[in-house]
Amino acid sequence: MSTDLKGRIAIVTGASRGIGKSLASTAAGLGINLVIGARGQGPLEETADELARKYKVRVLPVACDVTKLEDLENLVNKAKAEFGKVDILINCAGVSSQYPFNEQPIEDFEKLAHTNYLGYVRLIRLVINDMIKQKYGAIINIVSGSTLVDPVPRNFIVYSSLKVGLRAFSKGLFWELRDHGIKVTSILPGVTDTDLTGKLKDITSDTSRLMSTQAIEDAVRFALTVPANVCPLEISVINQQTPWTAPVIPFKQQHPGK
Ligand SMILES: NC(=O)c1ccc[n+]([C@@H]2O[C@H](COP(=O)([O-])OP(=O)(O)OC[C@H]3O[C@@H](n4cnc5c(N)ncnc54)[C@H](OP(=O)(O)O)[C@@H]3O)[C@@H](O)[C@H]2O)c1
Repeated sequence: MSTDLKGRIAIVTGASRGIGKSLASTAAGLGINLVIGARGQGPLEETADELARKYKVRVLPVACDVTKLEDLENLVNKAKAEFGKVDILINCAGVSSQYPFNEQPIEDFEKLAHTNYLGYVRLIRLVINDMIKQKYGAIINIVSGSTLVDPVPRNFIVYSSLKVGLRAFSKGLFWELRDHGIKVTSILPGVTDTDLTGKLKDITSDTSRLMSTQAIEDAVRFALTVPANVCPLEISVINQQTPWTAPVIPFKQQHPGK
């Protein structure tokens, strides 16, 4: 894959806010035309207008729920109808939640699995054969720094264990696709200042400890612009000051009877 990305076509999911929106602007800044997806049509269309105006690239917003296979198929079909191909996929649409496992609603597991795992894997499956045919492509999966912690953080074990699975999948996929000229990169962000973390307790009490999306943008720009014969397999972008990324999580354990 050439490092000159002008005129390439990328799908970016979760692009209406947070990390996905920042990564869509990184791609647009490299001259890449975009197909952006998220459920909420209003913010998605605003993002498309904003990026098209600022970076002078074409940006097609497609409302899409990544938990629905038909929406993913529609996203890819619209991209191909508009641009003829997909060169780059940035999988970022995601949700999080915080529960002790015994209190976590079963529907919440399903939402996490369908959005954060199947949403990524199904969309890759829908673009991969065309990438193989065209002998180039780049897949960027936004995973999570919480996969670096063992055991995974308490109260996030379903979220984090699905991300561990996604990380393992991405690494395996790289080896399957390497000989087809396709790059697969996992980005492992630490706790970042977005709406997603805004909903989580214990992390945002001191917001100065959260990092901005800038470092993640830099990591993705690096992944997309390294020489054609190199693939950054994983990039961890970890903040210095949040408990998740410490080797031992300093949460207070509560023991029954104390
Ligand atoms: N923030 C962090 O600290 C952090 C750290 C590590 C990893 N991550 C990962 O980074 C990714 C993005 O997180 P973020 O912090 O940017 O979250 P965010 O600010 O809440 O943004 C999430 C984006 O995903 C979209 N989305 C959510 N569910 C969707 C669905 N079912 N179908 C389509 N789009 C959907 C949202 O739009 P709609 O709601 O309109 O659909 C929005 O555009 C997630 O995979 C998350 O796990 C985040």
